Amino acid sequence: MGTLSRRADIGVGVKSRDMFTTRLGVIFATLGSAVGLGNIWKFPFLTGQNGGAAFVVVYILSTLVVGLPVMIAEQTIGRAARADAVGTLKKLAPNSAWWLVNLLGILSAFFIMAFYTEVAGWVFAYIFKAAGGSILSSDPAVTSAAFTSLVTSPVQSLIWQWVALALVGAIIMLGVSKGIERVTKTLMPVLFGILVIVCIRSVTLPGASEGLTFLVKPDFSKLTWSTVLTAMGLSFFKLSVGMGTMTTYGSYFHEDQNIPATATRVMLSDLLVSMLCGVAIFPAVFAFGFEPAAGPQLLFVTIPAVFSAMPLGRFLMPLFFVLAGIAATGAMLSLYEVPVAFLVGSCGWDRKKATLVTLIALALVGSTAALSSSTLADFKLFGMTMFDLFDYVTSALFLPIGGLFLCLFVGWRWGSAEIKKALSNGGKLDNQLVVTAFTGVVKVVTPALVLIVLLTGLGII
Ligand code: PFF
Repeated sequence: MGTLSRRADIGVGVKSRDMFTTRLGVIFATLGSAVGLGNIWKFPFLTGQNGGAAFVVVYILSTLVVGLPVMIAEQTIGRAARADAVGTLKKLAPNSAWWLVNLLGILSAFFIMAFYTEVAGWVFAYIFKAAGGSILSSDPAVTSAAFTSLVTSPVQSLIWQWVALALVGAIIMLGVSKGIERVTKTLMPVLFGILVIVCIRSVTLPGASEGLTFLVKPDFSKLTWSTVLTAMGLSFFKLSVGMGTMTTYGSYFHEDQNIPATATRVMLSDLLVSMLCGVAIFPAVFAFGFEPAAGPQLLFVTIPAVFSAMPLGRFLMPLFFVLAGIAATGAMLSLYEVPVAFLVGSCGWDRKKATLVTLIALALVGSTAALSSSTLADFKLFGMTMFDLFDYVTSALFLPIGGLFLCLFVGWRWGSAEIKKALSNGGKLDNQLVVTAFTGVVKVVTPALVLIVLLTGLGII
């Protein structure tokens, strides 16, 4: 069906909203949000730090019973209200304080963007470094020195962050269908192709099997409640849920989009990309005798050394960082869209002004993260640099809290009748079982699990 006739289906009142134009466009844009540095940077370094497969198992379970239901819940209310994240809760629960949940989400978007744009900036810098050969060394001491010189330079840190912000800001200004949808639809298949090439190279290295074992053979004695909280936080971060991103994107979905099916496809594809990133990285790390628990530096210190040590590595390394850059872009678009949609929808600004003001605000907040390894290295709150604080506070607190309240809202305030109507597309889909299962999970299972993991992981009980 053509764009125009599809738009006509949506009904009066939403015709003027820019929307995703096709079902596939919805999947790519949503997947573009989910797939990002979370897969390529965070998932591998957290898996490496937390003992491998046991962490992966908890992460997968959390993705299924926590991440997926929250994603469905968010997209459903976004489409039902056809408003930005805050506007959605105001519309569906007028004269109540529920909208504060997504106001916290906007704060999360800012905090995540603050450190995310910095890591994305490093990735963009590394595309050039890898292509120019300046990080080509199998000695981690050399690659570590290259990384340190980048992050301890305030000028370079800020400039690369601004490059990332300017790139994403320009796409956001183009709008939802011409910007976000078009860019993600073009880039996601490229990302997948590059990833498969790097995986094939990694698993065909002599000695690759140890890395694969690390990824798939769990040792549960390594798990603690705090690790479980980290894995749950990662599943929120990975699927971009708990902060209104999926509500905002859901508001651009068409009435005939099958939300549970879409969310499930996105969740499975995202999980596949995470696992492929693990397969691309760990066999190579083990094959060359590097340390899997290198932490956040794994991508920038260990990986260049690994690529330098492997045959064809000098050609694959720039490709790998292009892949990371593509992934980061799709995710940043969705993070950026949350405050922009709020300023346009709830405050009545035009898109250009909203994009520019958000850009300036993000550059200001982000600079505190960008300077965390240089000018502001000694400035710590709760014992953490601003970079670490933004990362910790969002994944361990804000996203789980946001997700918890959102489930309570959808399950108990919005209620079963509305859920049924929305998930079955007004009775057009024959998915009674899915609706019943989702209703039970969103009312009880997910909130209970999130609450238990939060309280135990933080050491409160
Ligand atoms: N899901 C993205 C990633 O894994 O890199 C990060 C992210 C994007 C988190 C959008 C939250 C969000 F709203």
